[in-house]
Amino acid sequence: MSARDIGLFLQSARTDAKIEKRRAKLGQAAALESVYAESADPWASGSSRYRYQARKYEVLASLLPNRRFSHALDLGCGLGLLSRHLASRADQVLGVDIAPSALVEAARRSADLPNISYACHDITALPEALDGQFDLVTVADVLYYLSPLPDALLKAMAMRVARLLKPGGVCLLANHYFFRADPESRRSTRIHDAFRWCPALSITAEHRKPFYLATLLQA
Ligand SMILES: C[S@@+](CC[C@H](N)C(=O)[O-])C[C@H]1O[C@@H](n2cnc3c(N)ncnc32)[C@H](O)[C@@H]1O
Repeated sequence: MSARDIGLFLQSARTDAKIEKRRAKLGQAAALESVYAESADPWASGSSRYRYQARKYEVLASLLPNRRFSHALDLGCGLGLLSRHLASRADQVLGVDIAPSALVEAARRSADLPNISYACHDITALPEALDGQFDLVTVADVLYYLSPLPDALLKAMAMRVARLLKPGGVCLLANHYFFRADPESRRSTRIHDAFRWCPALSITAEHRKPFYLATLLQA
């Protein structure tokens, strides 16, 4: 991370604070949609000004097992920046997000990649038709937007992700991780613990990088 990337973290924190403030009044979906309606890239994830996010997507993609996937699913895909990386590793990629404006921008940014499509869904209420369809599911910096976030919901999400996977399919889970003791890192640890707990998934690798935690699991 370079000194300039501090601006990225400040913008992320501002966007998260807006969502937090609006959630009680608007609800989860509208609060998330509102930040995309105000800015095409609310977390500056695709900004060429900052190097950190682009590097993070590259590293996350490099952590995947060295094989080709048939159907990949990127849950909470936002602008589809990670989905784009998956497009070179999978025959078909589906990006799912709750915010329609994010998906419009994601589709615009992926117009050059015919094997990506996007759909609007709440990841807590995914259609059962998706079950067992994917050999790769990615969940990057998404679950901590579910609020409140009891362990029971996290465990239910881990089970839900497991059901999306074909036997032997892979889940890549990634979340902010700073210094272990801060509230955000503790929350990320709880998320990863719920996936670790999931009887239908086994951990194959775990990576702690500045500043995220990435876990690979297999169904
Ligand atoms: C910080 S962005 C991360 C986007 C993307 N995963 C990435 O790494 O670039 C979080 C995304 O999660 C989406 N999200 C949050 N809660 C969601 C839910 N319940 N269902 C679907 N998407 C959700 C938001 O709309 C937002 O696009």
